[in-house]
Amino acid sequence: MKLRKAKQTDVREIFLLNLEAAKTANGVARKVEEILQKDVADFVKKSLRTGLIFVIEHPSNPKKLIAEIHCYKHEPQCFKHVLGNLTLVVHPDFQGQGLGRKIFSHLLTEIKKSRRSIVRVELMTRQNNPRGIKLYQSLGFEIEGVCKNRILDAEKKLGSDVMMAWFNPSFESLQIS
Ligand SMILES: CC(C)(COP(=O)(O)OP(=O)(O)OC[C@H]1O[C@@H](n2cnc3c(N)ncnc32)[C@H](O)[C@@H]1OP(=O)(O)O)[C@@H](O)C(=O)NCCC(=O)NCCS
Repeated sequence: MKLRKAKQTDVREIFLLNLEAAKTANGVARKVEEILQKDVADFVKKSLRTGLIFVIEHPSNPKKLIAEIHCYKHEPQCFKHVLGNLTLVVHPDFQGQGLGRKIFSHLLTEIKKSRRSIVRVELMTRQNNPRGIKLYQSLGFEIEGVCKNRILDAEKKLGSDVMMAWFNPSFESLQIS
């Protein structure tokens, strides 16, 4: 399965992948009707401009995508050493086969290799997602805190989010311009 950097022309396929993942509900914050192609176009553009975005192609149909990860910078310059807005999605038919770990490891390796002005990478995950938290901890993320009652679940009950961060061991210096 080919893992590669995403292109702006991948927007439609990334949109379809997110729709498929949202249908199975677990873990995806947006409901199916909240997944819009224009929002996907926006995060692809921002990730290509200020962050990173990778995809994995379907094994027998490379036009289709089965996994995607991205992160990008927050706009204010005071956060220019931070990559946030991190989202990882694996097609439901391909979950549990190691692709999530593979694409996430690739993203962190790329940051270590080529983003030496990045200090930290941030993500948020639900407190009631212990498998996700364990996965991120095994990749080097630390729990920084719990955001109590931040999220409304499918049953309309309040739940908490966990804030996690990974610190770039290759950080050298800030790009001050
Ligand atoms: C969570 C998700 C990205 C994991 O990707 P994956 O390819 O299924 O995971 P992998 O096969 O690489 O497994 C890596 C670890 O993730 C955990 N994991 C597997 N499926 C998972 C799931 N559905 N939810 C949470 N964690 C899962 C496993 O415990 C595994 O741990 P191990 O390596 O110690 O066995 C994927 O299941 C997914 O896209 N889920 C829906 C969207 C989502 O939850 N995104 C993350 C929001 S924070």
